[in-house]
Amino acid sequence: MKTVIVVAGTRPEIIKMAPVIRALQRNKIPFTFVHCGQHYDYNMSQQFIEELALPPPDIAFKIKIASPAAQTARIMLNMADLLKKTAPVLVLVEGDTNSVLAAALAANKHGISVGHVEAGLRSFDLRMPEEHNRRLTDHVSEHLFAPTRRAEANLKNENVWGKIYVTGNTVIDAVHQHLPIAKKKSRILEEIRFERFALATAHRAENVDNLLVLKNFMEAFAESPLPIVYPMHPRTKKQLHKSGLYSKVKKSRNIQILPPVGYLDFLVLMKKCELIITDSGGIQEEATAPCIKKPIIVIRLSTERPEAVEAGFATVAGTEKNGILSAIDSALTSRKQLPSESPFGDGKAAEKITEIVKTLF
Ligand code: UD1
Ligand code: UDP
Repeated sequence: MKTVIVVAGTRPEIIKMAPVIRALQRNKIPFTFVHCGQHYDYNMSQQFIEELALPPPDIAFKIKIASPAAQTARIMLNMADLLKKTAPVLVLVEGDTNSVLAAALAANKHGISVGHVEAGLRSFDLRMPEEHNRRLTDHVSEHLFAPTRRAEANLKNENVWGKIYVTGNTVIDAVHQHLPIAKKKSRILEEIRFERFALATAHRAENVDNLLVLKNFMEAFAESPLPIVYPMHPRTKKQLHKSGLYSKVKKSRNIQILPPVGYLDFLVLMKKCELIITDSGGIQEEATAPCIKKPIIVIRLSTERPEAVEAGFATVAGTEKNGILSAIDSALTSRKQLPSESPFGDGKAAEKITEIVKTLF
C-alpha cells in the first residue's frame, strides 16, 4: 500500500507534526509515523506523543547518545533500512534538526521525494548546526512548505529545485488545537512560586555550550526585575552541572527551575507569563499566536524568524547580560500593543500541506 513516512526526532518536531498527522488521518491518507530517537527521555519525547494523543510511532529508532555526526549517520542507516522495506511516496520532515537532515538525505539516496515542512528559514549564522541542516534539507526536497513569503523568497534566492508552497507554520495550528485543552487539564500554575513572572528557555548549542554565554544567561535571569520560571532543557542542565553552576542557579530566589514540561503545561505558562525570554525557534512563533500574544526577548545574535521582530513581537537582545536586562526593562516599561495576527499563519497550515500531499496519491 502507498504510504507517506512522517518523521519526528525531537520535541519540537513532534509538536509541529501533530497537526499534520491529524490532517492526514482526517483525509484518510495512509502514513507511517517514525520517531528517530534523537530525543529519548520520556519528558522530551513520549510525553508529547501521549499528551497530543498521537498514534504510537510505527517505528522508533534507538539511537544511543552519540556525537552529532554519529547521531546523523545512525539515523540515516536506520532510515535507509526502513525505506528499502516501505518504498513510500514521500518522506515528510519538519524543521532543522539532525534527524531532519538524516531522514531527508536517506530518502534522497533512495530516490524518494522529500517534503520539507518549515522550509526556507535562514539565520545566516553558520555557527548553528540548524542553519546547515535546513539549507541542506531544502536543497534535496521536492516539496518545500514555506511558512511565510520571506521563507519563500529565501528559497527562490537560492534557486532550490523543489516546488515551493506558502502554507503558514503548523505550530500555530498546534497552539490553536491545544490551548483550550491545556486550560482545562494543566495544573502547572499551582506549582509556580510567583504571581507575575517571565518564562525563559535556553538550549541552543552555540549558547549553552559556551561557558561565557551560559553564565551571562544565568546572571541575567538571577537579576531580572521580573522573576523567571525556567523549564530547563537537558543539554543546559548537563552544561550547568559540568561547569559547577547548577547549584547556584538552583538556589537563586529569582529563578524557579522546572524539568522540561509537557506541551499543555508549557502553553499555560506562555499564556500566563508577562514576557518570554528564549533562544528557542518554535517559541518565537508560538508567542505570536493570537491566543498567546506575548513579547519575546530572543537571547541570540540572530534569528531565522525575523517576521516576529518586524511584527513587533520579538527583540533580538544578543547574549550579553546587560543587553538582556535592558531588553527586559524596555519590554516591561513600553508594554506595547501587539498585533492581533500572527506572521506565521492562521492555524490552517497542516490542512494546506495535506491537500498537497493528497495530490501525490
Ligand atoms: C536538538 C536540535 C535543535 C532543537 C532541539 C530541540 C540538532 C543539531 N539540534 O538540540 O535544533 O532546537 O533539539 O529541543 O539537531 N539530552 C538528554 N535527553 C534527551 C535529549 C537530549 O539528556 O532526551 C541531552 C544529551 O546529553 C544530548 C544533549 O542533550 O547529548 C543534546 O541533545 P541533541 O538532541 O543532540 O541536541 P539538542 O540540544 O536537544
Ligand atoms: N516546549 C515544551 N516544554 C518545555 C519547553 C518547550 O513543551 O519545557 C515546547 C514549546 O512550546 C515549543 C517547543 O517545545 O513548541 C520548542 O522546543 P525547543 O525550544 O526545544 O526547540 P526549537 O523550537 O528551538 O527547535
